[in-house]
Amino acid sequence: MANSKDRKIIDEKLKELEEKHKLAELGGGIERIENQHKQGKLTARERINLLLDEGTFVEIDKFVLNRNTGFGMEKNRIYGDGVVTGYGKIRGRTVFVFSQDFTVFGGSLASAHARKIVKIMDLAYKNGAPIIGLNDSGGARIQEGVESLAGYADIFFRNTRYSGIIPQISVIMGPNAGGAVYSPALTDFIFMVRKISYMFVTGPDVIKAVTHEEITKEKLGGAETHTRISGVAHFAFDTEEETLAMVRELLSFIPSNWMEDPPVKPTSDPVDRIDEELRYIVPPDPSKPYDMREIITRILDDGYFFEIQKDFAQNIIIGFGRLNGRTVGIVANQPEHLAGCLDINASKKAARFVRFCDAFNIPLLTFEDVPGFLPGSDQEYGGIIKEGAKLLYAFAESTVPRITVITRKAYGGAYDVMNSKHIGADINLAFPNAEIAVMGPDGAVNIIFKKELAEAENPEELKKKLVADYRKNFANPYKAAGLGYIDEVIDPAYLRPKLISYFEMLRNKSESLPPKKHGNIPL
Ligand code: HXC
Repeated sequence: MANSKDRKIIDEKLKELEEKHKLAELGGGIERIENQHKQGKLTARERINLLLDEGTFVEIDKFVLNRNTGFGMEKNRIYGDGVVTGYGKIRGRTVFVFSQDFTVFGGSLASAHARKIVKIMDLAYKNGAPIIGLNDSGGARIQEGVESLAGYADIFFRNTRYSGIIPQISVIMGPNAGGAVYSPALTDFIFMVRKISYMFVTGPDVIKAVTHEEITKEKLGGAETHTRISGVAHFAFDTEEETLAMVRELLSFIPSNWMEDPPVKPTSDPVDRIDEELRYIVPPDPSKPYDMREIITRILDDGYFFEIQKDFAQNIIIGFGRLNGRTVGIVANQPEHLAGCLDINASKKAARFVRFCDAFNIPLLTFEDVPGFLPGSDQEYGGIIKEGAKLLYAFAESTVPRITVITRKAYGGAYDVMNSKHIGADINLAFPNAEIAVMGPDGAVNIIFKKELAEAENPEELKKKLVADYRKNFANPYKAAGLGYIDEVIDPAYLRPKLISYFEMLRNKSESLPPKKHGNIPL
């Protein structure tokens, strides 16, 4: 046992440690913390506490100091170097987290700051756990020059190397400018907070100087811009509290790494629940719109659908839900927008989601009602050929269980692209009113019978008859079912039990791609 003199020495050392902790936790000081609060923003530590299960955060590298020497920085050493890093739990599962501290040098990224982030990224990778970055930073620390650029590149390198191995999530909670945007861009999901976060490669001042365009930060790179126009971000919420709660929610659907299956959430929603209303959601008239979400929510456990990128490319719907407690990734045409056509944005949005699901063992459920690709010179000039091919490629290379339900139209190339049997879907179902054909009856009759219609005494009557004939012979699911391209034509009321049964049958599906270094998705 230590004598009283030794105890005193040890107690003093412990006191010194405690004081250092307190100092580190103050970051840039009380005044700057108050300033952060005044702007409606939480501090880096407050954010971590909201994100993680209470009391689970373990901080690493709390006493790391900034290394800069120029511009008087050597006299301004602050513990933590503007970023709080460590690990903790979300709903009992380990995650790694970094949270930039705007009160310290504006959260700017310098070499020590970057090394801290890199250290926990490496730990997340080695331990197969998600990494979540809370970004609030003025970008590269100007006083450190190339060292801060190197620090960014060290992070980008890991974002890329760990892509598809552990889920990576970025939450933008303040400025995110310049090359700094590329770390979030390389991660799987980006969350933004309305009014306080923005992302851009070049800010309003540079834009004004170069192009004379005047634009606000919010309009250029705020949450609305990135969730509605650019599609860079996946989610936007009004408050930091809500945003962090939704990060927790997202994680409940996905596994911790590519070797695991997604977590299972037991449900009291019966597996054999039939829903007769499902028979009447899709209007028989193929030109009438309806909301595909009606079908999606009716078949999922407890009607709960976690939609992703809901304001971008609204002609396609993506998101997670559960069937009998197990996560499924949903991709669905939305007849309510652009008649559910595939266009450039829809193809890119869905393709990236399909690849995420495939990388992380999440079975794919596709709902199809698609008249084709959106026609127009805008689309052709924008490269719909290459962009549409992304979705085709993403489905074709995925090896997770894949089911498609054709609710109505499946026309042309879009039939092939939307997870058809021919590109590797396991089970293809159709509602009785499904129309599977090269094109819709109207267009088809106009082309095939152009001459007859031109010469007819009563072209309208003839067209009516020809359209009816075409519909009877081609625009139905039975031709495809007769060829085995559709495995079952189902009564929509039984969709939920059918899907649960088919996904259960596919639970042990094992398929691998031919050996190669990697494919060459049309980027
Ligand atoms: C060093 C920085 C900094 C930076 C902010 N600070 N950004 N210090 N390097 N990049 C410091 C400020 O000097 C200030 O210190 C404190 O952080 C708070 O900043 P304010 O300007 O007072 O805050 P605010 O008015 O809220 O403005 C925030 C801001 C602005 C919009 C982010 O600070 C800003 O424009 N910063 C520069 C943004 C930028 O151009 N970064 C480089 C991007 S290029 P004091 O001590 O006065 O409180 C880039 C390249 C990366 O990042 C490339 C990777 C490949």
